[in-house]
Amino acid sequence: MKICAIETSCDETAVAIVEDGHTVLSNIVSSQINTHAAFGGVIPEVASRIHIENISIVLEEAIKAANLKIEEIDAFAITQGPGLIGSLHVGLIAAKTLSWYYDKPLIPIHHITGHIYANQFVDKLEYPLLALVVSGGHTELVLLKEEYHFEILGSTQDDAIGEAYDKVARVMGLPYPGGPHIDRLAKDGKKNYRLPKVKTQNPLDFSFSGLKSAVLQLIQKNKEEIIKEDLAFAFQEAALNEIIEKTKLAISLNKVKHFVLAGGVAANSRLRERVNELKIDNPDLKITIPPMWCCTDNAAMIGAVAYVAYQHGVRGDLDISANPGLDYA
Ligand code: KG4
Ligand code: ZN
Repeated sequence: MKICAIETSCDETAVAIVEDGHTVLSNIVSSQINTHAAFGGVIPEVASRIHIENISIVLEEAIKAANLKIEEIDAFAITQGPGLIGSLHVGLIAAKTLSWYYDKPLIPIHHITGHIYANQFVDKLEYPLLALVVSGGHTELVLLKEEYHFEILGSTQDDAIGEAYDKVARVMGLPYPGGPHIDRLAKDGKKNYRLPKVKTQNPLDFSFSGLKSAVLQLIQKNKEEIIKEDLAFAFQEAALNEIIEKTKLAISLNKVKHFVLAGGVAANSRLRERVNELKIDNPDLKITIPPMWCCTDNAAMIGAVAYVAYQHGVRGDLDISANPGLDYA
């Protein structure tokens, strides 16, 4: 089954053709990052306008790169939410139009389920599965007791971890998006600054805004010039300690067989190393990290999960709308 997947939830216009949820026939991502970097963050109105300009070109390119005719596509998958309303809307209109014109099923997808099922490109997923979702908009521990069944065990009470990386980078004078810059600087950093540990009511929830404020205060109060590498190191270790500790707890409370990392921050080199700590108490735990090419937003991951969703009967009609606050399936 060849699925044409469209993803426009934020600032990437992306179209991919994926066969049977595993084989990527093409994966085109047109990033708007250079436009938004000038503003230090994504400007929603600008993002939706660029999606309108790019969507047909990216679609044509994806079909061509897959060496197919559009008539050979069996279904169209689309990110219905969460994301920016205007951006989501552009992709949804495109997908609905294609589904109607070519008379093929429409499969609406939750963006985060795409990040989770991106791991299907490297490993067979086994259940019960725990996904640590770390992106610019989400930080969640999601338990899948069985295929395509999502239960949120804990989530952030304020900022998402990627958002915290980006905000901390901003106060350090680094370009947007700041996550990769902090990742790089921290490699040359050492233990020098102390940052507070965060507390949440539910032990599986996360909080990052206190950590972000602590970094800001440290910069403002410090009389000498800040050593950027050391500050990046301190912030990153504090944020990742929080994530690893809570993931360990979630694994110990549930009979987890398989652990997967998901979302843009899964590209973080230190986090990719530190997930191995989960093996210390659980030597039999299967661990999968997504390949770098499908950590940040893309449409191949939407095509991967859409194949599973389709088998679970997920279909959209022409009345569905973009939903920025969409709940899991
Ligand atoms: O999943 P994603 O592409 O978009 C959302 O759905 O939010 O994630 C983007 C986030 C940004 O906050 C970016 O700074 C972060 O992922 N990110 C990183 C790294 N690469 C991307 N954060 C830390 N280290 C990285 N290497
Ligand atoms: Zn994402």
